[in-house]
Amino acid sequence: MDLLKGKGAVVTGAASGIGKAIATAFIEAGASVLLCDLNAKALDDASAELGDRAIGRITDVSDESQVEAALRAAHDAFGSLDIVVNCAGFGAIAPLTELTGEKWKAVQAVTLGGVFYGVKHGARLMIEQGRPGVIINISSVNARQPGEGQAAYCAAKAGVDMLTRCAALELGGRGIRVVGIAPGLVETPLTRKELENPAMRELFLGVIPMKRPVAAEEIGHAAVFLASDHARSINGDTIAVDGGSLTRGYPALLTGLKG
Ligand SMILES: NC(=O)c1ccc[n+]([C@@H]2O[C@H](COP(=O)([O-])OP(=O)(O)OC[C@H]3O[C@@H](n4cnc5c(N)ncnc54)[C@H](O)[C@@H]3O)[C@@H](O)[C@H]2O)c1
Repeated sequence: MDLLKGKGAVVTGAASGIGKAIATAFIEAGASVLLCDLNAKALDDASAELGDRAIGRITDVSDESQVEAALRAAHDAFGSLDIVVNCAGFGAIAPLTELTGEKWKAVQAVTLGGVFYGVKHGARLMIEQGRPGVIINISSVNARQPGEGQAAYCAAKAGVDMLTRCAALELGGRGIRVVGIAPGLVETPLTRKELENPAMRELFLGVIPMKRPVAAEEIGHAAVFLASDHARSINGDTIAVDGGSLTRGYPALLTGLKG
């Protein structure tokens, strides 16, 4: 189904994992996509794989001017900016008492700051072009579930959820919807190393009622739905795509592996 036919989209963190899966699903749904990432080689590979309606652009989402320029480039290339997906993000695993200020700042700069720049400049362009749009922020179950050793990540993702709500409140009247997706455990390069550890895998799968990780493609399908007119009354909410893991507690990663 061509749910996004003719739409112009930007996806950050699009060279890998969930961002790449979202870019792929958007192309399949008929959109043109500007893929933003820091990893030049992976970005080249991803945009070549996705074909004529994909453009790769090296962008550091923690740099406001680079985000603004990337969004404008998409608008100019596609004729409109209809969808922005703020996906680039990462965490830092360290007990809170050992977490350095530098790591804390690096996580906030990309995982929360990058989303802010995408929302701010995405919305400005959508208002300027006088055409409605949708902004999707990639959150995490960790916005709601504290994780041991994950204070910086959890705080950043909780910030993303509140930013989504504030943005929906301010921008709804201008024809812009702002929504979020909170993935549970998705097997991507970000989580692969942990999942290769059998004890860690057991801890994670133990709290997912469906007993399997979510596939990155499934996040792509959710993003297509949220970006489409089928979701035109969904605004301000962050939808969990987590196999039901939010029904349970988050695995005790630091203490759970010691026993
Ligand atoms: N994988 C999971 O289980 C999971 C669960 C919940 C939420 N998430 C979130 O989904 C998003 C994507 O995660 P993923 O698992 O696909 O990770 P990933 O590591 O596979 O992909 C992240 C991409 O972001 C890029 N990136 C990093 N810093 C950047 C920057 N400053 N500017 C631009 N690009 C940058 C990386 O180069 C990489 O290509 C993240 O926000 C992550 O927190 C992932």
